[in-house]
Amino acid sequence: MNWQQDKQQWQTQVDARLEAWLPKDSIKPEQLHKAMRYAVFNGGKRIRPILVYAAGQAVAGSDAMLDHAACAVECIHAYSLIHDDLPAMDDDDLRRGKPTCHKAFDEATAILAGDALQALAFQILVQGRDENISPKQRLDMIDILSVASGSRGMAGGQAIDLAAVGQPLNEAELENMHIHKTGALIRASVKMGAFTAVDLASEKLEKLDHFAKCIGLAFQITDDILDETSDTDTLGKPQGADRALNKPTYPSIIGLEASEELANRLVEDAINSLQVFDKKADSLRGIANYILERTH
Ligand code: IPE
Ligand code: IPE
Ligand code: MG
Ligand code: MG
Ligand code: MG
Repeated sequence: MNWQQDKQQWQTQVDARLEAWLPKDSIKPEQLHKAMRYAVFNGGKRIRPILVYAAGQAVAGSDAMLDHAACAVECIHAYSLIHDDLPAMDDDDLRRGKPTCHKAFDEATAILAGDALQALAFQILVQGRDENISPKQRLDMIDILSVASGSRGMAGGQAIDLAAVGQPLNEAELENMHIHKTGALIRASVKMGAFTAVDLASEKLEKLDHFAKCIGLAFQITDDILDETSDTDTLGKPQGADRALNKPTYPSIIGLEASEELANRLVEDAINSLQVFDKKADSLRGIANYILERTH
């Protein structure tokens, strides 16, 4: 299978697994379950699950646990977007071409849907069955995702982002913000995928982690570029939202051209770090290029 086929297959697969994990919206409290489902099944690219599967493929990891890790990280991501769009944060009305969760429901329901999705992520990692996975591997994965989601990871990055509005950040500060708010979950996706293998050589783990660090930063740089250069229909979220909110972004601080060059360099660096891997890592290579080529 080529990388495009893998990508499609993994998108379908994670959607089917998420469908099974998320409580039906006929179950009480219906409104909360509807909001959780609304935020998860509304057309996300599933980049983080795809990274879990692709890293698992590179290291020949255990399939069932890859499904669980893929679902878990997507739940955290969906929660982070619901909260990111709230009036207290980016105050956005449009996400994936549809009204944001707090617009389709209400603010309190959106906050709770985010809370519940975060809890569900860890429930999935704890309860998801896989006879090939040791308790130690499972604990390691819970450790990875909890740290990446918390105040030293994504939530911390969001705090830095909010504090940075209108501030003249330098490039190192901007990198630090992006590495946390977006890079942490991307890095956790690759790491969890890698941890589904038994006894992965530490050199390989380090290479995968370097790969993930590079593409995590490149992903948010591209998000900043697209906010500037794309259009609302293509993006499915309001174009120009960063500029309107006076957010420091790569284009606003180092310029558009330098941002594009940097994203390219990071992806090149990421792909170079996969030299110790054979063609089983081709999907990871495909994802790295896709991050640059994506239009939304
Ligand atoms: C958007 O993430 C928020 C960022 C961290 C840049 P994605 O671009 O992965 O969003 P979806 O899930 O595909 O909508
Ligand atoms: C979002 O960054 C990062 C997280 C949700 C953790 P942005 O605020 O740039 O994401 P978009 O552009 O709204 O998707
Ligand atoms: Mg934001
Ligand atoms: Mg936002
Ligand atoms: Mg953005």
